[in-house]
Amino acid sequence: MNTACAPEQISELNVPDYVRHAGLVAWVGEMAALCKPDRIHWCDGSQAEYDRLCQQLVDAGTFRRLNPAKRPNSYLAWSDPSDVARVEGRTFICSETEEDAGPTNNWMAPDQMRAKLQPLFDGCMRGRTLYVIPFSMGPLGSPIAHLGVELSDSAYVAVNMRLMTRMGRAALDMLGEQGDFVPCVHSVGVPLAPGQEDATWPCNPANKYIVHYPETREIWSFGSGYGGNALLGKKCLALRIASTMGRDEGWLAEHMLVLGVTNPAGKKYHVAAAFPSACGKTNFSMLVPPKGFEGWKVTTVGDDIAWIKPQADGRLRAINPEAGYFGVAPGTNMRTNPSCMRSLQRDVIFTNVALTDDGDVWWEGMEKDHGGQLPEHLLDWQGNDWTPADGQAGRKAAHPNARFTVAATNNPVLDPAWDDPDGVVIDAFIFGGRRSTTVPLVTEARNWTEGVYMAATMGSETTAAATGKQGVVRRDPFAMLPFVGYHMGAYFGHWLALGEKLRAQGATLPRIYCVNWFRKDGQGNFIWPGFGENMRVLGWMLDRIEGRAAGEPTPLGIAPRYEEINWSGLDFSDKQFAEATALNAERWVEELRLHDELLAQLASRLPQALSDTRQALAQRLAIESR
Ligand code: GTP
Ligand code: SPV
Ligand code: MN
Repeated sequence: MNTACAPEQISELNVPDYVRHAGLVAWVGEMAALCKPDRIHWCDGSQAEYDRLCQQLVDAGTFRRLNPAKRPNSYLAWSDPSDVARVEGRTFICSETEEDAGPTNNWMAPDQMRAKLQPLFDGCMRGRTLYVIPFSMGPLGSPIAHLGVELSDSAYVAVNMRLMTRMGRAALDMLGEQGDFVPCVHSVGVPLAPGQEDATWPCNPANKYIVHYPETREIWSFGSGYGGNALLGKKCLALRIASTMGRDEGWLAEHMLVLGVTNPAGKKYHVAAAFPSACGKTNFSMLVPPKGFEGWKVTTVGDDIAWIKPQADGRLRAINPEAGYFGVAPGTNMRTNPSCMRSLQRDVIFTNVALTDDGDVWWEGMEKDHGGQLPEHLLDWQGNDWTPADGQAGRKAAHPNARFTVAATNNPVLDPAWDDPDGVVIDAFIFGGRRSTTVPLVTEARNWTEGVYMAATMGSETTAAATGKQGVVRRDPFAMLPFVGYHMGAYFGHWLALGEKLRAQGATLPRIYCVNWFRKDGQGNFIWPGFGENMRVLGWMLDRIEGRAAGEPTPLGIAPRYEEINWSGLDFSDKQFAEATALNAERWVEELRLHDELLAQLASRLPQALSDTRQALAQRLAIESR
C-alpha cells in the first residue's frame, strides 16, 4: 500500500483537498492504474451527491423513479436475471493454507487467485467511473467499529453504500492520515468500448469472483452488482474478514440481529439472534408485541450483523456495524412486519420487486394488506406484463430474493442505542433455522457448551438469498456457513474459548436458545403463527432469565411447559403446542446422523468438547452411538 504515484497521475485521481491519507491515495492510484477507469469520483456521502447519482442512474435506465406521491424519493432497479443473489459457489477464502479456510469454504492459493484476477481487473473499468467509497462499519469512532474503502465502478453500489453504512467524508475524517482500513475492490466486470452502450444492469454472467484474503484483509469482487456480492461492507467485510479479525483479537462477528426488549416495568434486555439468510432476522428485529403483551416494547439495534466484543467486566457488548437494511421484500406486509412497512414509505431503493401501473412497488404477500386482492396488472421484476392469471400459474411478480435498501433512521422502532459507540450488553443468544420437521419451537441450552453444540449443528432449508437449489436442508452452523472466513471447526473452538474466558472473569454468560418458527403440519401449513407472536417465546426466555419459569428438561435441553407461556390474546391449544414442540425419535436418529456428517467433515479442528456433547446427547435421546 505504499506504491509511489507519479504527480500527474495523482492530479488525475481527482483527490479532494480534505483527503489526508497518503496510503489511501497511493492505493487508489495503484488500483486506477490497474482498472483504468475513465473518471474517478470520491464520494463525500452528502445528500446532494446521493440525489445526483440517483438521477444519473435514472438517466442510464438502471433506476426508475417511483411515483413521488406514493413513494417519495424512492427508486426501483431491475437486475440482470443472471444476477439476483449471492453466489456461494464463486465465493473464495484465499488464506495461505487450504486447511485454514477449512472444508466449508471454497479455497484457492492466494498467488494463484491473484494471477487469475490480475488479467480480469486489468482494464475492467474502461469507459466507467471509479467511485471511491470510504465507510465506517459501526458508529463513527466506536472502539468496536472498523473502517473500509470500497472502489467500485457501480453508481448503484455507491448509493446503496450510503444507505447501508456511514459513508463519505465523515469516515475519511475518522481515517485521518494513517488509520487502518480494509481495502475492497469491486467491478461489475464489463468494460465499455468507446461509444458502446451500457446495459441497464451491467454484470458479467460468465465470470464472477467474490474473493477474500484473510491474512492481508483484502476483498476483491468481480462480475456481480447484487447485494452481498457487491456491497462489500456487508458479508465480505463485516462477516468474512471480520470473523478472522475476531478470531485473532478475541471478539465475535456474527450473522445476528440485535434487539432491545423492554418489559412493562421498564427493565430492558438485549438479545442477539442468528437465523440463516431469509429466515426472519429483519422480522424479529422489528417485532411488534401482540395482544397480551401490552406495555412491552421491542426496538431494533440491527437486523443482520452484530459485532460483539467482550469487556473488562466480562460482559459482551454488541454494535450493529451497518447503518441500513438490505431486506427481503416478499412476504413483508402490515401483518407480518408493520414497522418494516412503515420504514419503506420514502427514501428507499427497491431491487427486483414489481411495478404497479401507478408507479408504486408490489411483491408477493402485499395482497394481504388489500383483502387478498391482487393488482390487475403489474410489470414484473423483469419488466414483463403480469396479471393475476400469471400468479395463479406460479409466476412470481417479484423475484423471491427481491430486496429493499433503506437507512436505519427510517425505522419507527429504531433502538435509541443503535448508534451508541459503546454498543449494548447482550443478555441472550438465539439460534434458529427453517425446519419443517424435527426441531421444536424452543429449547434452552443447559450451559454454554451445549448451546455452542446446538448452534454448531443447526440445519436449515435453503432460501432464494443465495443462488442454487431452494428448500433443501443443509447444516448451517451459527447461520454462518457462507460467512465464516476460516475453518468452521476452529470457529466453534473460538466460541468455546470465549465462553471459558468470560467464565474465568466471573461473568454470567448469556443464555443460549434454539428456536424453530417454521415447523409444518401434515397439510404443509406452519404450525406456529410466527411474526409478532414470536414475542411469546421471547417472553418465556426473559422469564427464564429472571428465574420465573422452571421449564422442563428434554433430551435437547430445557423446554417451556405449555402453561409457562403467556397465551393471552392468542388461540393456541396445548395440542397445537405439543405439535410445535414434540420430539420424534426416528427423526432425531436421522438428525444425529446429519450432525455426525458435519462433525466428521470438521474433524481436524473439531473441539473435543463438542464430540463429548454429541455423545451425551445421543445417550439422552437413547440412540445407540454408531
Ligand atoms: P437476510 O436479509 O437474507 O439475512 O434475511 P432475514 O433473516 O432478515 O429474513 P427476513 O426477516 O427478511 O424474512 C425472510 C422471510 O421469512 C420473509 O418472507 C418472511 O415473511 C419470513 N418470516 C419471517 N419471520 C417469520 C416467522 O416468524 N414465521 C414464518 N412462517 N415466516 C417468517
Ligand atoms: C443474506 O443473504 O444473508 C443477506 C443478503 O443478508 S446479502 O447482502 O445479499 O448477502
Ligand atoms: Mn443476512
